[in-house]
Amino acid sequence: MNVLIAYASKTGTTAKCAKILKALVDDATLCDLTKEKPDLSQYNCVIVGGSIRMGLIHKSSRNFIAKNKETLMRKKCAFFICNCFVNQADAYLKKNIPEELLKKAIATGSFGGEISLEDQKGFDKLIMKMVAKKGKRSENTKLHTSSEAINKFAEKIK
Ligand SMILES: Cc1cc2nc3c(=O)[nH]c(=O)nc-3n(C[C@H](O)[C@H](O)[C@H](O)COP(=O)(O)O)c2cc1C
Repeated sequence: MNVLIAYASKTGTTAKCAKILKALVDDATLCDLTKEKPDLSQYNCVIVGGSIRMGLIHKSSRNFIAKNKETLMRKKCAFFICNCFVNQADAYLKKNIPEELLKKAIATGSFGGEISLEDQKGFDKLIMKMVAKKGKRSENTKLHTSSEAINKFAEKIK
């Protein structure tokens, strides 16, 4: 099975997770949606990933899904997000992925998120400080990615 892993990342977490996933899935190709437009005709299975900011999936992932919805409906597809509030993951998936696609997806999930205050500026840095503070108090906030979640997702693709 030819698998495309199409992802969009702002500060690198989603890109890192996409690479880990590629290593676990046979015949997988990576595509950074912020730089390339993939030719979907070459793939039997399309995995779309994106990071979450203010409840929304990365714009490049959102646009890709919207533009290719009909094609994705005809293929095996799967969706992952990278985010810190892991207890909100299902709500984020529901909000950002069309219902029909979510229903037919062979795998969906969150791989967790990372906080890198050094990489943030201005308003983003302020938000990150709030997220980091919340993370120290709550087990529902992941400040790291989960290799277990990526493994579980990869198992479903196989
Ligand atoms: C400005 C900003 C807003 C964020 N908003 C959310 C959010 O609404 N929900 C959430 O769970 N995580 C949120 N996060 C955490 C990111 O999803 C997390 O840092 C993720 O690892 C970023 O992935 P990326 O490096 O691939 O862009 C936010 C992060 C930033 C910087």
